Parts: sequence; structure tokens; C-alpha cells
Amino acid sequence: MLFIDLRRQYESYKDQIRSELDRVLDDGRFILGPAVSELEAELAKYAGVKNAIGCSSGTDALLLAMMALGLKAGDEVIVPDFTFFATAETVSLLGGVPVFVDIQPDTFNVDPDKIESKISARTRGIIAVSLFGQCADFDELTQIARKHNLFLIEDAAQSFGATYKGRKSCSLSEIATTSFYPAKPLGAYGDAGALFTNDDALAERVRNTLNHGQISTYKHRYVGINGRLDSLQAAILKVKLRHFPWELQLRQKVASWYDKELAGLVSTPCVRPGNSSSWAQYTVRARQRLSIQKHLRERDIPTAVHYPAPLHHQEAYSTMGICDEHLPESVKASTEVLSFPMHPFLTLDEVRTVAAAVGEALQ
Ligand SMILES: Cc1ncc(COP(=O)(O)O)c(C=O)c1O
Repeated sequence: MLFIDLRRQYESYKDQIRSELDRVLDDGRFILGPAVSELEAELAKYAGVKNAIGCSSGTDALLLAMMALGLKAGDEVIVPDFTFFATAETVSLLGGVPVFVDIQPDTFNVDPDKIESKISARTRGIIAVSLFGQCADFDELTQIARKHNLFLIEDAAQSFGATYKGRKSCSLSEIATTSFYPAKPLGAYGDAGALFTNDDALAERVRNTLNHGQISTYKHRYVGINGRLDSLQAAILKVKLRHFPWELQLRQKVASWYDKELAGLVSTPCVRPGNSSSWAQYTVRARQRLSIQKHLRERDIPTAVHYPAPLHHQEAYSTMGICDEHLPESVKASTEVLSFPMHPFLTLDEVRTVAAAVGEALQ
């Protein structure tokens, strides 16, 4: 069994993917060619947002969003303490200071009730991650951001396709970022990402910034980066996006199977009313994590820990001297979380095999 079986997916769409790749190879426009603009139009339509802008990765998408918003050295940005490193790393790369906030124990997303006490005169914005595929509480987050005049970014690297109160992830904040890393719900065959915004001026600034700050050929208004989306990846994503709504239904089915088969064994994921998850991960809590992992490994069932340490424990941030007592839920989650194989092509038999092995490990 594989943690994410991309081969089964490729077999299903192989002919369509190859024909889209051939179109790009025959056309020869490999940088910002028509495949990129076609994909962007389809992404914008899917997310219900005016502008979708393809870029080189989910990390670069975060970087570009904050560059376009004008983040300056010394600015503070609120980030959840329990997320992938890139959420905070990009703040630091721009000379900003990530300010770590604790999470809600049921959703693993940033706890809006714990944000205001962390806001200072230097706070410029909030990055809320929609972790494991479930959107953070954007109604509350928007209220806080408006009250304190802060920017709000949704880091939707794991939640493309999720919904929050009937609205799509990537449409919930002034700018959102996502990742098309191969293992993500919508994955390319290499690194890729996108940004989403209804603000045309901000979209234009992002477009310029990802192309070395150029406003036209060799006229550089800003200092930017090379953060362009590869045309071949765009072609692959165009095909996969067509199948994505169906894949989301399959993911939902797999998650429901897990919920049923694992009930009573471990603490299964909580999706709050009003939310639908894109199930980037199926992550449970288990105090006996080590023994479950060991037992499953012996049966060739892969598992993963997202994430084994809160951000404030990372060596890169060790000099900040942040105490665990301010971030108890994040610390606790890092000792208990365990992710099982999750992808749209998983079968009920495979889910039952995983659950049976979990049951054996707990005997
Ligand atoms: C929450 C979060 N933010 C950002 C990223 C970065 O995305 P990428 O790997 O495409 O750079 C990831 C990727 O795992 C992620 O999970």
C-alpha cells in the first residue's frame, strides 16, 4: 500500500495528460504560454475568485502574496504554531517576524480567540492555514483582521477544493495561496502553486513580482523573483482539475470509511458544521502513536506524522525563546497526530486493512 498512490491516478488520465503535454511541446511556449493562462481562468472559475495567478510553488505563493502586500523587515505576522514550516519561513525570508499562535484542538487550525492578545503595534497581518483540508474559521478571522487593519492570507496549500459555509477555500480572504505539490489534493508532477484574489491591483502586483518585478519586457518596477508557473505543469493541472470534483467525492468516501472503521480505536478527525474538507490528510489523534506506527510498518502500511514538532520547537526558531506554556494545544497535537494513507483511489478493503492493523496494535 502507498501513502498516496499517484500511479493509479496517472493510469486513469494518462492519455489526456499526454495529449495536453504534446500540445505544449508542439506549441513551444514553455514560459507563461497559453496553458498557464487557460489553467488560471479555470482555477479562478472553480474557486469563484476574479483572479487566479499560477506560480512556482505554494512557498513562493506565500512569498509573493506578502511581497505584493508590501511586508517590510520587522513587521510581525500572526501564524499558527502547528503547520508546515513554509508558512512561517516565508515571513522570516522577507525580514518579518512570525508570531506563533496556538490552535483549536479539534480542527488543528489557528484559534481565533488567541490572536488578539498577540497583536502589537508592529503586527501587519495574519496567515491562517486551512490545515489537512479543513478551512480555518474565516468569519472570525476576517473580523479580527478588519478591526486591527491587518492583511489576512489563507494558506490553502492543503485545502484547495474545501468549502466553508458554502464558499470555496481560496475565496475567503483578500488573498489566498495554494500548493500543487504532487501529494496535494490537486497535484502537479513537480512543484507548482497559485494565488487567488478579487483585488485587481493586488493581482497585477503579484503578476509583476513573480516575473522579476517587470511591468513590461526589461522594465522592472519592483524587486521580484522568478516565481513563474511552468507551462508543462499547467497542462497537467488542467487535466487533473477536470477530474478534481469527482476525486473530491472519492476522498470524502474514503474519509467516511475510515471514520466508521476506526471509530472507538483512535480519535478520528472532526470536520465542523459548515465545513467540507478536501482531505489532504486523514489525521487522527492517538496517544499510542509509536506502537501503531511500528505495527503498521511491519505490515507494509505507511503512516506519516504531520507534524512531529510545533514551529516554535524548530531549531531555526529556537533563539526566539518561546515557552510551551503559551502554545499547549500545538505541543500536544505534535505528540499525538498520525496520518493514514489517503488518496481518491484507496479501496474499502485497503481502509479495512489499515483499521484492522490499528486494532491489533492497540490490543
Ligand atoms: C500549509 C502549507 N503551506 C505551504 C506549503 C508549501 O507548498 P510547496 O511545497 O508547494 O512549496 C505547504 C506544503 O506542504 C503546506 O502544507
